[in-house]
Amino acid sequence: MSAKDNQPDWDKIAEKFDIWLPQIAPVGEALLEVLNAQPGDHIIDLGSGTGEPALTLARRIHGHIRITGIDAAEGMVRVAQNKVANERLSGISFKTMPAENMDFDDNSFDRALCRFGVMLFADPLQGLKEMRRVLKPGGRFALAVWSTAETMRTLCWSYEVFKHRLEEDYHPPLAKVTSLGAPGMMEDLMREAGFTRFTIEPRTFHYQFESFDAYWDAVEASDILKMQYDALPENQRGSIRDEVGRFARDFIHDGSLVIPHEYLLVAGNK
Ligand SMILES: C[S@@+](CC[C@H](N)C(=O)[O-])C[C@H]1O[C@@H](n2cnc3c(N)ncnc32)[C@H](O)[C@@H]1O
Repeated sequence: MSAKDNQPDWDKIAEKFDIWLPQIAPVGEALLEVLNAQPGDHIIDLGSGTGEPALTLARRIHGHIRITGIDAAEGMVRVAQNKVANERLSGISFKTMPAENMDFDDNSFDRALCRFGVMLFADPLQGLKEMRRVLKPGGRFALAVWSTAETMRTLCWSYEVFKHRLEEDYHPPLAKVTSLGAPGMMEDLMREAGFTRFTIEPRTFHYQFESFDAYWDAVEASDILKMQYDALPENQRGSIRDEVGRFARDFIHDGSLVIPHEYLLVAGNK
């Protein structure tokens, strides 16, 4: 498996990222449930992307909560800020900032949230240390990271199909995306970052599309594999869809595509 990062250029795909939000919404709900935010809390969302699930939380406890989202990609932050402005939400803002070096005082936040961010950080350990630093003593956190490669099914399929056709430098980012999923990895990292009170629970949710074509249309429209498509010789592009479709066959039920994915829900207190 490629050791290179190869994650999408989040700045460039920011306007298209929301295509995936309905698919990962169940993970946001699970995080918000264990985060258990209370009126008056100041909450940080790390790697906040285009704003979810922080925006959902702000809508629910509108006016009684302060939420700060941070993300390294300016384009993602801009999309999130536009949503705040369009919906005239108060108490929530987004800033461009790397998780590894945050411009906040020690012990500033009551709670911390991160959906599918930590494993993508350039330095996940440093990001977790920073999260610990800015949390108040006793502050609660809820994180979701992708589990093992074989349970991140859709990316696994793309990896299998592209890896024979492209140089390693262009392989889909399966290694990075699932880099914290192996047994013991996340636990060791959390302890190294200084956390002692936490649980790690594997959870399953499902991508759901009305057909395989609807799924692959989302992949293409979101540019999530743009780097791989651009690197592919023109005459090979058509066969990619067919080959991924063969992997998907086992997951078609009554015409719909339902694909289980596993993640680790990490929750605890500083
Ligand atoms: C898969 S997206 C998830 C976005 C959002 N949390 C969600 O669940 O919709 C990962 C996000 O992590 C951000 N990211 C990657 N490395 C980062 C870093 N070092 N510091 C902060 N954000 C980072 C990316 O820019 C991207 O917006």
